[in-house]
Amino acid sequence: MDLHLKDKVVVVTGAAGVKGSIGETIVQALAEEGAIPVIVCRNDRGFGYQKELQDKGIDALFVKTDLTKPEQIEAAAKAIGDKYGRIDALINNVGVNDGAGLEASVEDFTNSLQLNLVSFFAMTKYCLPLIKKSKGTILNIGSKVALTGQGKTSGYAASKGGILGLTREWAVDLINEGIRVNAIIIAESWTPAYDAWIKSLKNGEEKLQSIIDKIPLENRMTTPQEIADTCLFAISDRSSHTTGQFITVDGGYVHLDRSLLPSKDIF
Ligand SMILES: NC(=O)c1ccc[n+]([C@@H]2O[C@H](COP(=O)([O-])OP(=O)(O)OC[C@H]3O[C@@H](n4cnc5c(N)ncnc54)[C@H](O)[C@@H]3O)[C@@H](O)[C@H]2O)c1
Repeated sequence: MDLHLKDKVVVVTGAAGVKGSIGETIVQALAEEGAIPVIVCRNDRGFGYQKELQDKGIDALFVKTDLTKPEQIEAAAKAIGDKYGRIDALINNVGVNDGAGLEASVEDFTNSLQLNLVSFFAMTKYCLPLIKKSKGTILNIGSKVALTGQGKTSGYAASKGGILGLTREWAVDLINEGIRVNAIIIAESWTPAYDAWIKSLKNGEEKLQSIIDKIPLENRMTTPQEIADTCLFAISDRSSHTTGQFITVDGGYVHLDRSLLPSKDIF
């Protein structure tokens, strides 16, 4: 299926993570479809990614931005507007599960919201005039933590919950503009950040195995490529009548009744 993404300007926040992170994988998938990826991130790795793509003859842009700073976000939107004059899709992907739990200070909780939630609002607000120009679309990256809780991570959980609220809210706000707004919910995807989290645990391997055993479809983690593929479909005009939706890509981890699944004793 041709997703019709050729020459579409697609902005992805937090996309200069280590190779194999969700944002970076989305950028590679976009490049393969002939889209123009715009990386908005604070990590200098973005300069390398921009060069790699440009060396292959792919139009791409990196806008170095600290997403906790609204004035830098406003400047990033301006830089994108100056170069391309429009945005066809905005993927709000930045997110760090920073463990600001009930024991954390109010300041740490607020800082978590600033990165994980306020950046989504600021990016969307400042990019909106450019999105309107092309009747573009917005996709927010959520987490199962908003639905299931995780413990010890109030800031991240509140942010991911807020993101789901904003997805519905903006879908309503922008319905008359023909701008679709959706969210992707991720549960357990094997990224470098996930790997680092597992390695930080005392009983990491055991914990990992106990999670994998409970993922109903094929007892395996979701790959970042599977997340990226669903993101590309959701922003494409092949998904043209879907708005205000939470699309869960997790092998049935959150919603399936495991007691009804026959395959594993562990259920
Ligand atoms: N991997 C999973 O299992 C999983 C599960 C649920 C949700 N998610 C979500 O997927 C998204 C991507 O996750 P990932 O595992 O690829 O994360 P990652 O840690 O690899 O990527 C985070 C990116 O955010 C950037 N960043 C951090 N602070 C920033 C700041 N102040 N300004 C600008 N950029 C900043 C980093 O440079 C990095 O590129 C996040 O929203 C995360 O919540 C992932």
